Amino acid sequence: MPSVSNFSRSLPGSPIRKMLKVIADARARGIDLIKFSAGQPSLPPDEEVVEFVISYLREKPCETSSYTPTQGLRELRELIAMDLERYARIRLDPEREITVTEGASEGMLITMMALLDDGDEAIIFDPSYVSYPHVIRIARGRPIYLPVSIEDGFQPDVERLKELVTPRTKLIFFATPDNPTGRILDGAVARAIVDIARDHDLWLVSDEAYKHLIYEGEHVWMAKLAPERTVVLNTFSKDPAMTGWRLGYVYGPEEAVAEIAKIKQYVTLCSNTLAQIAAMKYLEPEVKDRVLERTIKIYKSRRDAMYEAVRKYLPEAGAYKSPGAMYLFVDLSNYLRRLGLDDETLAERLVNEKHVATIPGSGFGPHGRNHLRLTFVSEPEERIAEGVKRIAELLEAS
Ligand SMILES: Cc1ncc(COP(=O)(O)O)c(C=O)c1O
Repeated sequence: MPSVSNFSRSLPGSPIRKMLKVIADARARGIDLIKFSAGQPSLPPDEEVVEFVISYLREKPCETSSYTPTQGLRELRELIAMDLERYARIRLDPEREITVTEGASEGMLITMMALLDDGDEAIIFDPSYVSYPHVIRIARGRPIYLPVSIEDGFQPDVERLKELVTPRTKLIFFATPDNPTGRILDGAVARAIVDIARDHDLWLVSDEAYKHLIYEGEHVWMAKLAPERTVVLNTFSKDPAMTGWRLGYVYGPEEAVAEIAKIKQYVTLCSNTLAQIAAMKYLEPEVKDRVLERTIKIYKSRRDAMYEAVRKYLPEAGAYKSPGAMYLFVDLSNYLRRLGLDDETLAERLVNEKHVATIPGSGFGPHGRNHLRLTFVSEPEERIAEGVKRIAELLEAS
C-alpha cells in the first residue's frame, strides 16, 4: 500500500471525537452515561424552525435540495447582517463581508488558509479550543501558545502577548466566550489586544460561537473594536442547538472574506441548504428572542448546579465559575498528582467505571493537563450533581 502523508500522520486525533466514540461504544453496550463531554446542547431546535424546514422541503423540494451560492443564500446573509445590526450595531454588506460556512469548523479552517502563508505564526491561548493549533498547521502555519491561568480568570497577559510577536506573526486567534474555560474577554484586555494587532499589523480572528450564551457580563464584539482587521467566526450549532446541521458564518473585511469564500469554492462549494433555510427562521427576532430567553435560563441553572457540585464534592479542585459558554474547566492537579494519574486515563476510567463522560483537559493545550472539561448543558441538575459525585468517588477510591 502507498504511504499516507507524514503531515497527516503527525496530526493527533481530536480528544473530543475520541471521547464521542467511547460514548457510542458504551451506549451500544446499553450503558446510561452521564454526559459532560461534547459541546452538545440537550435542548431540541425550536419547534417553529423544525416545522418551517419540513414545510419548505415539501413545498419546494428542488430548491431545498439544490446547491446555493458559495457565500450562502442571499436572504440568509441579509438576515445575518440585520441580526448583527440588531445586537451590536455592526453594519455589514451581505454581498461582500459575510460568507456562510459549514459550522465554525469550516470557517476556521478556510480563514486560516486565507490568512496564513507557510511558516506564518498564529498566536493562540493555552488552553484553547481543540481545533485551533491543528487548523493552523493544516494551513501550514505555526501555532504559538500564550499560557492563560485560572488565577487571572483566564484573561491573557497582554505584556506576555507582546513578547510573543515576531516578524513572522500574522494573527491572534481566540474565542470569546471561550471553550474550554468559559472566560469572556475583558473589555480592556480586548482593546489592548487590538492595540498590539494595530502596532504590528496583525489579523485578529475572533471565534464568537458562544456570543449569546452569557450568564454574567457582556460579550465583546471584536469587529466593533477593530473592523479593519478582525475576522469573526460564528455558528448556528450552539444557541439554536443545531450542531448536526453544520452551519455557521464568517464576517470581516471584504478582502479577507473574498479569499475565504474563494477557498470554500473548492472545499465544500456551498453550505447545507436545508440548514440555511432553518437558520433563516431562527434569525427572525421573535423566534431567536424566545429561544435565547429559554435557553439561557436553563443553562445558567445547570452551570450553577455544576459549579456547586464541584465545590461540594471536589473541594481541592480549582474551578472557575464560567460566565459564558457551556463548560467548567476543572483543575484536578491536587488529586491527580497524589494519585499518579493523568487526565486522559482519568477520563477513560470515568466512562468505564463510573459511567460519566468528560473531556480530558490536555486536548486543549499543554496547560490543560490535569484538568477535565465538564459540559454543563447536556444534563439536568440532578444528573449533574450525581455525575460530579461519581468523579469524586473515583478520585477518592483510586
Ligand atoms: C469555540 C468553538 N469554536 C468552534 C466550534 C465548532 O463549532 P461548529 O459546530 O460550528 O463547527 C466549537 C464547538 O464546540 C467551539 O467550541
